[in-house]
Amino acid sequence: MKNLINNNNFEKLKQNFLIFKNNKNLIYLDNAATSQKPDIVIKSLVDFYEKHNSNIHRSIYDLGEVATDLYENARQAIANFINAKYEEIVFTSGTTEGINFVADSWGKENIFSGDQILITQVEHHANFLPWQRLAQEKGAELKFLNLDKSNFLLKNLSQEDLDKLINSKTKIVALTLDSNVLGNIWPDDLLERIIEKAHSVGAKVLLDAAQAVAHKKIDVEILKPDFLVFSGHKMFGPTGIGVLYIKKDLHKNLRPYQLGGSMVYSVFCDKPAIYRDAPNKFEAGTQPIAQAIGLKSAIDFTNQNINFDELKKYEASLTSYLIDKLNLIPECQILGNIDMLKKEGHLVTFYIKNIHAHDLSAFLSKNNIATRSGNHCAQPLFELLSVESSLRVSFSFYNTHEDVDLFLDALKEAIIFFEKN
Ligand code: ALA
Repeated sequence: MKNLINNNNFEKLKQNFLIFKNNKNLIYLDNAATSQKPDIVIKSLVDFYEKHNSNIHRSIYDLGEVATDLYENARQAIANFINAKYEEIVFTSGTTEGINFVADSWGKENIFSGDQILITQVEHHANFLPWQRLAQEKGAELKFLNLDKSNFLLKNLSQEDLDKLINSKTKIVALTLDSNVLGNIWPDDLLERIIEKAHSVGAKVLLDAAQAVAHKKIDVEILKPDFLVFSGHKMFGPTGIGVLYIKKDLHKNLRPYQLGGSMVYSVFCDKPAIYRDAPNKFEAGTQPIAQAIGLKSAIDFTNQNINFDELKKYEASLTSYLIDKLNLIPECQILGNIDMLKKEGHLVTFYIKNIHAHDLSAFLSKNNIATRSGNHCAQPLFELLSVESSLRVSFSFYNTHEDVDLFLDALKEAIIFFEKN
């Protein structure tokens, strides 16, 4: 095992995760599906239920007021984390709900026959299906930014191409920051140019940060989206909590996605209700209170322990090490831009000719190695690439070069086994 780069004490942080104590030999390489949770996140959930459990925004007693403060402090922590305003943070159940929210509330009121919705060919189904259905229901057109199959990056566009693609008919562009299959997909400054162009024609921009948020600094003042979504569970927080950033300018005219308790000032029998201001207007019903508090704890852990520049270098060193070794396996085909992944990647997806990825993943599991196999909820991408299924290794800071070595040893054993059988 070669420790190619000083891991900047990331490995020590692994001691803060009980899951690795309870599963001594676990090699967890499925962080793009969900990350593990530091002990303080788990403790914050238990603490809430043991010490403060009560409903928020409606309980006129001390316990309820403490719970409300904890929940709203979580919102502030998340706003600070992505450089947003407090009221721009709406809690959801996850990335999927965030995108469905926008497609349903903003989309239904702003997309009409003949309009265009632009996404990429690499989107996860969560950022594909809501737009496809909206386009079908409204008679709008779903358009795509194409992938260059020769280098696995989105095809770069000249200014002329961009002007043709994004025009007065374009109403929203909904783009993933990192692909859950290919990792880095954006060449040069294409993303920035698209966002600028979209805004220049009055289109809105939604960014799916689900795969990016645990690996790089997200700053909405720099990225300038109108909407941005991510999930807590991929960034060391609990499941069942996500974030939808909605730019303040849009709050007034945006229809709530769900209606119910705690989001209205007044309700009448004979005229429409008067909604509260954002963010409450967008959070009907009892919210995932403990999960929001758990997400704050995950953010505190990240702020205290992780420098994103160092993290990028460390995860890229793991990625690069894995790619170099995979390239020595003749039957292995990597999906993704090798140069970009080696520079700033955090996952590697590949297939081994003539061996189904599910078989490989099951074999690896016998060695306590967790990977993800299949089409990763990105079927249009797999159809485009004419690939049936693939195996994905996705890293976090608690992974080591030794994990990669053990993974590679087991993979080689698996290849020999399946070639013989
Ligand atoms: N979207 C998650 C993944 O890619 C679940 O695995």
